[in-house]
Amino acid sequence: MASCLAYKGYMVIGVDVDVSKIKEISFGRPPFYEPRLREMLSVALGRKLFSCTNNYQHAIDNSDISFITVGTPSKADGSIDLTYVKEASKGIGEALRSKEGFHVVVVKSTVTPGTTKNVVKPIIEDSSGKRCGVGFGLCVNPEFLREGSAVHDFLNPDRIIIGGCDGRSSVILEDFYRKLYGRRMPKVIRTNPSAAELVKYANNAFLAMKISFINTLANICGKVEGADVSIIAKGIGLDKRIGPLFLKAGIGYGGSCLPKDIKALISFSKQLGYKPKLLEAADVVNEEQPLKAFSMAKEELGELKGKRVAVLGLAFKAETDDMREAPSIKIINALISEGASVVAYDPKAMDTAKKIFKESISYAPTSLNCIKGCDCCIIATDWSEFKKLKPKEFVENMRTPLVIDGRRIFNPSKFSKVLKYRAIGYNNLQ
Ligand code: UGA
Repeated sequence: MASCLAYKGYMVIGVDVDVSKIKEISFGRPPFYEPRLREMLSVALGRKLFSCTNNYQHAIDNSDISFITVGTPSKADGSIDLTYVKEASKGIGEALRSKEGFHVVVVKSTVTPGTTKNVVKPIIEDSSGKRCGVGFGLCVNPEFLREGSAVHDFLNPDRIIIGGCDGRSSVILEDFYRKLYGRRMPKVIRTNPSAAELVKYANNAFLAMKISFINTLANICGKVEGADVSIIAKGIGLDKRIGPLFLKAGIGYGGSCLPKDIKALISFSKQLGYKPKLLEAADVVNEEQPLKAFSMAKEELGELKGKRVAVLGLAFKAETDDMREAPSIKIINALISEGASVVAYDPKAMDTAKKIFKESISYAPTSLNCIKGCDCCIIATDWSEFKKLKPKEFVENMRTPLVIDGRRIFNPSKFSKVLKYRAIGYNNLQ
């Protein structure tokens, strides 16, 4: 968001408590991989529109709007951890104490309903000595961008949700976005803070449900002779009421958002005395889904001890180096625990993987090198470079050509003709 705004000509000051991150970003090195980000950051830094600091006072004194974008991780019980939101609110509040004029604070982080009004607002009021709506304004404005297409999503939003604690800041924020997006300005929904907070959870929970729904159908298809879940997805996706997106079956959703947010919403709902069975089911389906690929490997290979298994793809999705809650982790851990030797490759997530698995697996420099001499290859991320692999390359390089397509990236009929091909939601036992 900071890079995109600076790239678009706004003066942006990034604040973080992590000095090493500040240094890296100031040198034009984003701390994670995201398409187009490095180039936008470098343009922004070159034009002197983006700077980073750990000094709240400097940032608040020299800006009109502050976006709180800190992480909201899960606690062990699935509920939300607001430590960073509280710290950021306090830092902003303390800096606001000496600032003259109206300053708008916007909560972009995903927080459970009531957080902005009952946690952020009192912290800023106490630490600044000012009243919300008088000395400063406060809005909830959830973020819907996806990793891997974050720049595109930021520049082309489907809608803007603004939950204002005061009327004035909602107007200022809407105006800010109108100037930013111009003719591309999407629909705006202005509501109260709790509703805006809940829209974000509802959005991610619905996406998670859609994926767990199609994965449930995929697991049924796996038991029906000749069935292929991609036909089912196409069939229902053409119904305008359902739509074709987020119906790609596979080894489940990962990442730092969908798994965490559905758990946080379940926990929040239970605290209010309502057990959200539908959400719980989506979560349970997703917890089990990665192991479907592992079970297929076991069914085909029998004993895994002494077998060499290639895992192509480690990131939770393509176009990122992020492995948080990646399905590949569960699959690799299961393979290791049954005595298989695992060799892995990912175009971007190798450094991340090395921190997680250390010496317990081996790492290959390319996909072909990864599958060489293996008894089984599991596709765990849908990187486009894997889609280019030909069945012949598996046959020529593997010890036993067995492909388990956890992301449904290959053409089943082409692959089945020349090698043993298994995919989630595909039954070729005819
Ligand atoms: C998700 C939401 O899509 C964003 O709108 C939201 O802003 C973001 O969380 C957030 O809360 O910050 P993200 O986690 O980056 O974005 O990635 P998604 O594109 O949603 O993918 C999540 C997982 O679902 C990936 O593991 C992906 O492989 C999987 N997936 C996605 C499927 O298995 N099937 C599909 O059809 C789509």
